[in-house]
Amino acid sequence: VYPTADEASIDVAHRISHLIQSKQHNGEKAILGLATGATPIKVYKELVRLHREEGLSFQNVVTFNLDEYYPMHPTADQSYVTFMKKHLFDLVDIPAENIHIPDGTVDAESVHAYCENYERKVSSYGGLDIQLLGIGRTGHIGFNEPGSAPNSGTRLVTLDDLTRRDASRDFGGKENVPTKAITMGVGTIFKAKEIILMAWNEKKAEIVKKAIEGEISAEIPATYLQLSDNVEFILDQDAASLLT
Ligand code: F6R
Repeated sequence: VYPTADEASIDVAHRISHLIQSKQHNGEKAILGLATGATPIKVYKELVRLHREEGLSFQNVVTFNLDEYYPMHPTADQSYVTFMKKHLFDLVDIPAENIHIPDGTVDAESVHAYCENYERKVSSYGGLDIQLLGIGRTGHIGFNEPGSAPNSGTRLVTLDDLTRRDASRDFGGKENVPTKAITMGVGTIFKAKEIILMAWNEKKAEIVKKAIEGEISAEIPATYLQLSDNVEFILDQDAASLLT
């Protein structure tokens, strides 16, 4: 638990930067699992600062984003491709071919095969070194909504009504928020060598308490993280305020 989200985000960014540099030193690639949304923005901001001011290179970085709305065109304002370019990818020297974000334009017949291939691609790099997560008020991680299985893989899912309500501001009304998304599964996330779930402010306090102290259940997919030895919750004081 950190006093502020800023301090926590800077620490997380420095951990990622150390991973990138130690992999670089060994001639290896750093494989990062990335999230979008409000939560990781300051982590990306610090990574961009480290690139600009301290020479951190992303040449040996490979990224896999957790999710994308479906259907969604990559150039749309609300796409996670647009988000990642704006906050990170267009601001650092990562090679374009190292970036993976689920494709929201795949046609319905091909989406299953597409998701299986995404899963295989993650494995082909030897799995994720670090997976960053936020948490939704439904208890989702990625877009693994209530009802998700602990061994689920990358797949097309239906978004929870609360998730669509929370996204309504970005889309100018809930009716414009896609009803589906492609997401890495809980099982995909679990294979990461390190999982870092971040949550800031009092709006997340209730779900954070359930995720950490509640009974493990498909109703709150984030409770599955209690079963992992490789997970850390990084919180600000407000998000941690209801923990006993
Ligand atoms: C985003 C994602 C979601 C968000 C969650 C929290 O890629 O997978 O699980 O992390 O909805 O969103 P924010 O950070 O906007 O509160």
